[in-house]
Amino acid sequence: MTTSDLLAPILSFLKCETPQAWLDVASSKQMLPDLLIDHCNCELKAAQTAMWLIRKYAVDTSSSAELLQWLKPYEDFVYRQGAMPGSEHSGLGKKLQVKEGVEFGSDLIQKMVLLIKEELHHFQQVLDIMNQRHIPYQPLGAGRYAKGLMKKVRTYEPQALTDKLICGAYIEARSCERFAALVPYIDDDLGKFYVSLLRSEARHFEDYLHLAQQVAGDVSIADRVDIIGEVEAELILAPDTEFRFHSGTPNNT
Ligand SMILES: [Fe+2]
Ligand SMILES: [Fe+2]
Repeated sequence: MTTSDLLAPILSFLKCETPQAWLDVASSKQMLPDLLIDHCNCELKAAQTAMWLIRKYAVDTSSSAELLQWLKPYEDFVYRQGAMPGSEHSGLGKKLQVKEGVEFGSDLIQKMVLLIKEELHHFQQVLDIMNQRHIPYQPLGAGRYAKGLMKKVRTYEPQALTDKLICGAYIEARSCERFAALVPYIDDDLGKFYVSLLRSEARHFEDYLHLAQQVAGDVSIADRVDIIGEVEAELILAPDTEFRFHSGTPNNT
């Protein structure tokens, strides 16, 4: 599949493209450390979100504890200045047990476990690139994007879960769109890496959407996809004072 084949469904799902002003700032030399650090954070956040969804909705208590252990070395590194996680942490010990009575449980677990593995691998890859370029990992707070999307999540179940999954789809799709949009403006090595990420991430937004529809059952999710999509585009286009991987149009004031 060519890059444009991979991108086509992503671009038709999103309601706007990344503004040129964001690309100009993101590809500037002085912004590279912030771009990579925030990208690194996004990969961990993606793994954490997927894990939170499984733990909250789909597994029993012992599996939930097992899952926490899996992420611990990564969280220790990012939040507690622990050692850099090695590849020995990339596995999950035992089989997870689905919570009784959760119809979509095994599908959610299967998709999310695969996604977590991939995101943790990406996290490691971004860290490697930072090391090669002597860019130290430093704490960098989250931007407004994910919080802004979550404001639209309804407060009652199962609608809350449906909406969270739709938010997940938008975050994944936007990441892919930005990887592709950045490629012409960044150096070849980073460009190749972003194309490889696009390949690996292109499926994620569809996985999230599919799960959202499964949770909603017979009720169409089209209107929710539309409402959350509008908010997403607004967060991307509106002026933003902070620069992050998912920030809005840079505001130079
Ligand atoms: Fe990723
Ligand atoms: Fe992803």
